[in-house]
Amino acid sequence: MKILTMTILRRLLALGFAAVCAAGVSAQPAAWPTKPITLVVPFAAGGPTDVVARTLGASMSKTLGQTVVIENKLGAGGTVAAAYVARAAPDGYTFFIHHNGMATATALYRKLSYNPLSDFEFVSQAVDVPMTLLARKDFPANNLQELIAYVKANQRKINLANAGLGAVSQLCGMLLERTMDVKVTAIPFQGTAPAMNALLGGQVDILCDQTTQTIPQIKAGNVKFYGVTTKNRIKALPDAPTLSEQGLKDFEVVVWHGIYAPKGTPRPIIDRMNAAVRAALKDPDVTKRMADLGAEVAPDSKLSPEGLQTWLKAEIDKWGPIIRSTGTFAD
Ligand code: MLT
Repeated sequence: MKILTMTILRRLLALGFAAVCAAGVSAQPAAWPTKPITLVVPFAAGGPTDVVARTLGASMSKTLGQTVVIENKLGAGGTVAAAYVARAAPDGYTFFIHHNGMATATALYRKLSYNPLSDFEFVSQAVDVPMTLLARKDFPANNLQELIAYVKANQRKINLANAGLGAVSQLCGMLLERTMDVKVTAIPFQGTAPAMNALLGGQVDILCDQTTQTIPQIKAGNVKFYGVTTKNRIKALPDAPTLSEQGLKDFEVVVWHGIYAPKGTPRPIIDRMNAAVRAALKDPDVTKRMADLGAEVAPDSKLSPEGLQTWLKAEIDKWGPIIRSTGTFAD
């Protein structure tokens, strides 16, 4: 009788243990990632956003144990891709990299089909990138003062290439027009990779674009180069003057990049992605390539999901009134 009682007790304990284990297993998040992850890039392949995405993605693939696939979804200054990601399944397999355009689109587009603050989860910021002002190689102006004089004398006849309304190349061009008190003719492309090709081919005159694409062309002497858009000179181009020190007082544009997911993506997945971005930003291959191309890792305070969310809100509040005051709208 005693033996029978002990056996029943042991069985009951075993069953209880199995039930606890089952509950424990089901309380864990499902294994992730079990298949490749898509990182949507809102501009053309080979351009500045694409370079950052592919460099980070290659390193993150190692950390996550699954390939990060880059998908270029083009159009309307990045808003086509943002709308696509806002509606994608929040299953941890679609992410989005975008820059200042995530903030400026709210002022440029009066009818936006997504809300940057409420339709996304925030993963992390990544790198900050300076811009550079360039012209085609045979453009008549040899320095910034000559450029300003030439554009003033040829109002609206000078073509400025950009990546559409909402792109930083467009934002930079708009600020240049305001600061120089000139008007140019904007020619939109689906990214600054095709815009750069048009500049190299002599089909457009001027381009304001990120160092992640322009440094190789500047160093090869393929373009005319007038200066950087940062407050201070940058390490990657130490001899290059800032536009501000050449007379465009307080002119400053720095491009910041954030990584997002569709709203509802589970927090444990967001945290794993955040850790993978942080690991990539410490990967020596990534840091060397980014430094060579003028990009700086974002400060630690901006690398948390909350850091990106706070920053985006501040950028929307900053750029909204500036853009609205120009009366430039996409729709
Ligand atoms: C790009 O990746 O093509 C650029 O970031 C577009 C832009 O100027 O915003």
